[in-house]
Amino acid sequence: MKKIITFLFTAIILVGCKNEPKKEKFSYKRVQEATENTIVKSMNDVTINSNDQMLFDRSIIRVKSGETVTLKLNHTGKIAKEFMGHNFVLVKEGVDIDDFAQRAMNAKETDYIPEGDETYAYTKMLGGGESDIITFMSPEPGTYTYLCTFPGHYQIMRGDFIVE
Ligand code: CU
Repeated sequence: MKKIITFLFTAIILVGCKNEPKKEKFSYKRVQEATENTIVKSMNDVTINSNDQMLFDRSIIRVKSGETVTLKLNHTGKIAKEFMGHNFVLVKEGVDIDDFAQRAMNAKETDYIPEGDETYAYTKMLGGGESDIITFMSPEPGTYTYLCTFPGHYQIMRGDFIVE
């Protein structure tokens, strides 16, 4: 028994020692990557993913006011656009979201974007495996709503678009 305990103890010490240099290397690499990311990526380069579970992967997007926003929407699922279509629609301030989404639902001919001037920007309606990139000027500072206008999605697929 004593031997086993001694063995285990030695093993723990050995494992502990072995991990030391690895850990340092890892954290160094992480710092380096983070620095590179901040240089290359601007706050206004936004990527948002959507999937077959009818979800966006983020519920808050932050951008700077008065600068161009480049937004990429990915549909990472496999289901076709007719059944699990997703888009990104940034709705103007003051628009009634429920009313807008209701009208969007009936606008199949225009990719579920209702007639009128109620949006700042929107992507194409995507099916699984597709992507779309749009660029637009960020509006005045404030909190706006973005959503997916595919029928039945907006109550879950929506979030805050915060302009600072
Ligand atoms: Cu959707």
